[in-house]
Amino acid sequence: MKKDLLKLLDLSKEDILHILDTADQMKYSLKHGIPHRVLEGKTLAMIFEKNSTRTRVSFETGMYQLGGHALFLSGKESQIGRGEPIEDTARVLSRYCDGIMIRTYAQDEVETLAKYASIPVINGLTDFCHPCQVLADLMTVREKMTRLEGLKLTFIGDGNNMANSLIVGALKCGMKAAVACPEGYDPDPAVLDFAKGFGRDFTLCRDPKEAAANADVMVTDVWASMGQEEEKAKREKSFAGIYQVNEDLMRLAHEGCMVQHCLPAHRGEEITAQVFEAHADEIFEEAENRLHAQKAVMALLMGNAGVNA
Ligand code: CP
Ligand code: NVA
Repeated sequence: MKKDLLKLLDLSKEDILHILDTADQMKYSLKHGIPHRVLEGKTLAMIFEKNSTRTRVSFETGMYQLGGHALFLSGKESQIGRGEPIEDTARVLSRYCDGIMIRTYAQDEVETLAKYASIPVINGLTDFCHPCQVLADLMTVREKMTRLEGLKLTFIGDGNNMANSLIVGALKCGMKAAVACPEGYDPDPAVLDFAKGFGRDFTLCRDPKEAAANADVMVTDVWASMGQEEEKAKREKSFAGIYQVNEDLMRLAHEGCMVQHCLPAHRGEEITAQVFEAHADEIFEEAENRLHAQKAVMALLMGNAGVNA
């Protein structure tokens, strides 16, 4: 494993599976009251330049359960908001803490932070990707379907941070990935370039019905992500009525097809209330698995005594 978790493109298939296996152990330990305080006395700094519910609570709770402590730094209230260079923040936090989690806009900022920090840096979402979320998604799929290899994952909607990480994560784990998005909203070119190497296991199309055919896992996300609030009306015009996970689309998928949504969800936009509620158990399991997957990431990157200490 590398020092940091910046994007799934940096991880090997073995790295991803090692995190998922460790996450399963973390979940088992927590549910069975088995001590797993492998980060006793360690501290995680959490920098948030965007809103969050799940990421903040799961990292903070996870760190506590591992025997450590997490501290919240708001982008606005810290000196980051007043323009202190990220290179300096990296070197300062490295003197106090044992790891940094950051949620921000540009992927470059996270890469620079990691370059200048001597401690592990974990990406808690950028405009480019959402690796922790997709580790939790893969964990949830493997839990329910008992495997990843050979399954078809379909993403309907904006070629955003979630689409980027899902494509990379799914393909690396031996899944097929199909994406349907409107023209002008394709996934990142670096991700499409990576996907090219997987031949027919990856498809990108405009028609959700085509992408949904024989899906084993159906995933969607908001049409306008954080930071795109001003484009909301324009985006609605491009997505509305077409790029929605609804009952008609689900009928084209394999029987028993799962639904995943990173949340927050906009019912009536990218997903109908009916489909959301029919798959609520899977979606909230996915949210829960953020905790276990991130504890695994923190234990593997920040721990020095193994996950069973
Ligand atoms: N899915 C996710 O990252 O949720 P938050 O924005 O609430 O952290
Ligand atoms: N694509 C969404 C994901 C939120 C967890 C966003 O970036 O706002």
